Amino acid sequence: MSAAAPETQAGHSRWVLRVNDAKKTFEDGTPALKDVSLEVRPGEFVVVLGPSGAGKTTLLRSIIGLERLTAGEVWLDGARVETANLAETRRKVGMIFQGFNLIDNLSALNNVLSGLLDTRGNLATLFYIFKRSDKLSALQCLDQVGLLDKAYQAAGKLSGGQRQRVGVARALIRQPRVLLADEPVASLDPMIAFTVLSLIKEICAKQNIAVICNLHQVDLALRFADRIVGLSDGRVLLDEKPDAINEDYIRRIYAGHGQGMYFGAGGGPADDTIHFDTLAPGPLP
Ligand SMILES: Nc1ncnc2c1ncn2[C@@H]1O[C@H](COP(=O)(O)OP(=O)(O)OP(=O)(O)O)[C@@H](O)[C@H]1O
Ligand SMILES: [Mg+2]
Repeated sequence: MSAAAPETQAGHSRWVLRVNDAKKTFEDGTPALKDVSLEVRPGEFVVVLGPSGAGKTTLLRSIIGLERLTAGEVWLDGARVETANLAETRRKVGMIFQGFNLIDNLSALNNVLSGLLDTRGNLATLFYIFKRSDKLSALQCLDQVGLLDKAYQAAGKLSGGQRQRVGVARALIRQPRVLLADEPVASLDPMIAFTVLSLIKEICAKQNIAVICNLHQVDLALRFADRIVGLSDGRVLLDEKPDAINEDYIRRIYAGHGQGMYFGAGGGPADDTIHFDTLAPGPLP
């Protein structure tokens, strides 16, 4: 199917990100994405859930052109993502990483400002010299994640949860239309994981930023997602609201991958029991 079809473009105001029939086979022959299609609306929090090797990271990397799709296409904010407009596309996207990807000896403030490096000139890139208005924006973003008082602290001296909140602020300073988060809480303990996801969800809903968040933890997915996309072996097995997800769905996603199924925020591998009554989504604290 071609996403260039007129109806696709005409309908783009309903979604900000669209992946159409994406296929990715790596050069060594590994098929990572076999046929993936999904749409994300502004302000929507979509969790991609799936076992290790399902293709979650490849999907996010493909959206911003870090991997070149073998077939299929990505549309972002009404434009097809192509080599020619990658820089423009990336300006509309914020990224959050499992390992935070901060520079430890830089202050939290400069780490946040680094989120603007690809959009600013040489002075910023070489010497971290930013305009006053950029610095004010960075401070505002730190304030949004509750870290204004740590602005001048070296990132390496912050706790894991604080480091990831700096990571969130660094993504937000780009004023993204879409935020891509690859296992953003996998390195955090359960309570902190919960707090960080709450923060991302709340801020993005308020600012109408679409989120695709890769997670391993089923309980967190059920708790935070507006929609859950179940990816297994490079294919979308389900695309549903959390309240439509039952135990059978989860088992299908993780079939043959028991070790990849995680319960308890940031916790370890599950036993075989899924307690759906305790996993039901509820209001944010
Ligand atoms: N650069 C690469 N070259 C070859 N194969 C790759 C490459 N990157 C990923 N793969 C393979 O593609 C498949 C999908 O990998 P991917 O990293 O997207 O999975 P994932 O769902 O993110 O897994 P995890 O939960 O462990 O992070 C896997 O089989 C993986 O081994
Ligand atoms: Mg991954």
